[in-house]
Amino acid sequence: MVRDIIANKEDLISKDDFIAQRKGIVQFRELPAEEKQALIKECPEYGEIVCRCEGITKKEILDAVNNPLGVTTLAGIKYRARAMMGRCQGGYCLTRIVDILKNEKGLNPEEITLRGKNSKLFTGQVK
Ligand code: FES
Repeated sequence: MVRDIIANKEDLISKDDFIAQRKGIVQFRELPAEEKQALIKECPEYGEIVCRCEGITKKEILDAVNNPLGVTTLAGIKYRARAMMGRCQGGYCLTRIVDILKNEKGLNPEEITLRGKNSKLFTGQVK
């Protein structure tokens, strides 16, 4: 419907590589045990729990970080993967997620923000 409304006002060019339906991030904790075992065998990162409160795996975090929109903020990861939404509100998993961002995107912790520009969490190294 939105496409049709815009097409009435603009010349649209269709993309050959357009993906009409995207697959969401697998919610590992919702799967039956057999499927969990199969996924861990296929991809060992499913076997590493990053967020204990919500049972979110490293693979789910990586899927959020490496999705086509390229999320690099902690809030972006939170909304996509449910990490940091548990009882400890990220007290346990936040630093682990920062490490994943550091390794995946080559960011320094000082560059990692909660929601962009003025929401820095780290100012420098203690040691
Ligand atoms: S471990 Fe992630 S919210 Fe508690």
